[in-house]
Amino acid sequence: MCGIVGIVGTRPVAPLIVDALKRLEYRGYDSAGVATIESGVLDRRRAEGKLVNLQDRLDTSPLSGRIGIGHTRWATHGAPIEINAHPHFSGGVAVVHNGIIENFRDLRAALEADGFVFDSQTDTEVVAHLVEKGLRDGLPPEEAAHYAIQKLSGAFALAVMFKNDDNLIVAARNGPPLAIGHGQGEMYLGSDAVALAPFTNRITYLEDGDWAVIRRDELTIFDEHGEAVKRQQQLSVGSALLVDKGNHRHFMLKEIYEQPEVIGHTLANYVDFNAEKIALRDMGDNDNPLDFAKLDRLNITACGTAYLAGYLAKYWFERHARLPVDIDVASEFRYREVPLSKNGLSLFISQSGETADTLAGLKYCEEHGQKLAAIVNVRESTIARSSHSVFPTLAGPEIGVASTKAFTCQLAVLASLAIGAGVQRGHIDPAAETEMVRALAEAPRYANEVLKLEDEIKDLAHTLANKQHVLYLGRDTNYPLAMEGALKLKELSYIHAEAYAAGELKHGPIALIDEEMPVVVIAPHDRIFEKTVSNMQEVAARGGKIILITDPKGAAEVGMDEAKVIVMPEMPEIITPIVYALPIQMLAYHTAVHMGTDVDQPRNLAKSVTVE
Ligand code: M6R
Repeated sequence: MCGIVGIVGTRPVAPLIVDALKRLEYRGYDSAGVATIESGVLDRRRAEGKLVNLQDRLDTSPLSGRIGIGHTRWATHGAPIEINAHPHFSGGVAVVHNGIIENFRDLRAALEADGFVFDSQTDTEVVAHLVEKGLRDGLPPEEAAHYAIQKLSGAFALAVMFKNDDNLIVAARNGPPLAIGHGQGEMYLGSDAVALAPFTNRITYLEDGDWAVIRRDELTIFDEHGEAVKRQQQLSVGSALLVDKGNHRHFMLKEIYEQPEVIGHTLANYVDFNAEKIALRDMGDNDNPLDFAKLDRLNITACGTAYLAGYLAKYWFERHARLPVDIDVASEFRYREVPLSKNGLSLFISQSGETADTLAGLKYCEEHGQKLAAIVNVRESTIARSSHSVFPTLAGPEIGVASTKAFTCQLAVLASLAIGAGVQRGHIDPAAETEMVRALAEAPRYANEVLKLEDEIKDLAHTLANKQHVLYLGRDTNYPLAMEGALKLKELSYIHAEAYAAGELKHGPIALIDEEMPVVVIAPHDRIFEKTVSNMQEVAARGGKIILITDPKGAAEVGMDEAKVIVMPEMPEIITPIVYALPIQMLAYHTAVHMGTDVDQPRNLAKSVTVE
């Protein structure tokens, strides 16, 4: 899940490529590189680590040239060092690649037998050598690229440039997205339209199996059968602005603070607050609006935090709409050969809308004739474009790799959908609907109040810093929320964290408890609060250090002096997961800041995971 860029331009392109790569750094930041052609000479600059290192290198050693390709890397094959950084060269060919070439070992062995020498450990380098082999065999550049593309299996978005033709980039897509931008006498390509937003908003998306011949004033697209095809040109709404951190130290903190506003915006899309009714707005290209009353099953598929939003929503759909829900991580779902119900709905949740496993799950459901729905933050994403019903989150661009506002906005959409489903299926009467809508309307206000607890949460976070392990416990919807808490802490602070359903503790994990084990318990005062208190007693009896997140009633009733308590405002049950997500996020954030990790770009991660 790297980011790729290409420009066939009329001005020096290296600075433009770096500018576009900045917008793609969310896809990986292990290394970056740019190659250009100037007077028949192919040259490149590459640097380990973040884009800023490449920028420094270009400052001391600039690249000229009016055609170029660039890359920001999330390492899959080969360590994140300079020799593995893209672009990769072979003779007069330069290649950048996003994805995984699954048959690269066989290809590499064959190419080595033909005398090609490899400089890197990447899967990508085989592409450069294959194209060069095609050229040596006498094929014209486009045909040499096509010859190479046909030999590849796996997922890839590619751009290929040729030393002897400074008016040609060949691009190909098989899986990861690829946008072609149309300029004034210039053409661009990028992993998404936002990367190209400073140059153009006129975008053509390649479809799976397509490959394209891109020249300054001409774009020709071929489909997987080699037929020239027309793909629709669209006007992108991607913003050219690079979002900044405002007064905040990190994007993550800014995004945590944006939540009251963006939760409100998102809810306003699905709730008529005047009429106090759910008013689901389906943004899909859909003649056949979603009718939950006709469904007998819902299967939800997603990854990471989006999966946990789906997991939490299972409780809502089953409780309020009496609709059975299957929930899977997409990497398992796609290979599990799940039987799907004829009257089922398949729902995919994804911030980026490009996650490879989630997209593969969607394809499986499509092949099995399912009705497809998506909750996405990026409206133009592949998952959105491939779904019948689309319910966007209105979180705005999320830059921090750790998902925060996208998660709470996903919950806002899911709560609205679950209530709407309950109404359509006759399990929520008008009075109950009004009550639940009033509760949803309060979520932004409570989220705002909770932000005021930051200093207190920061102090507690310092007690977690440098611990080896942390446990998170919760019951009911607080169980997936506990999983989200553990995921946030792991990815940001690199502390090992696990979540358990509180009642499950005694079936094994309790053996982990000793004086060194902090245990974060999420337990608003609800009908099963007492049960969770019993589990906390079991932890306290074994010396575990408890941080309890509850409300005033819970704090008054818990009766455990040894527990440290974050007291949340009392609020209606349906919105507790949305609002309780905030202290969980702040706890992980401040632990990480205290430990000095890279909060916005934690090690080994990328924002958008377009490989499986
Ligand atoms: O873009 P998506 O929502 O499909 O991404 C899914 C996960 O990769 C993502 O939620 C990941 O788990 C986050 N880093 C968690 O903070």
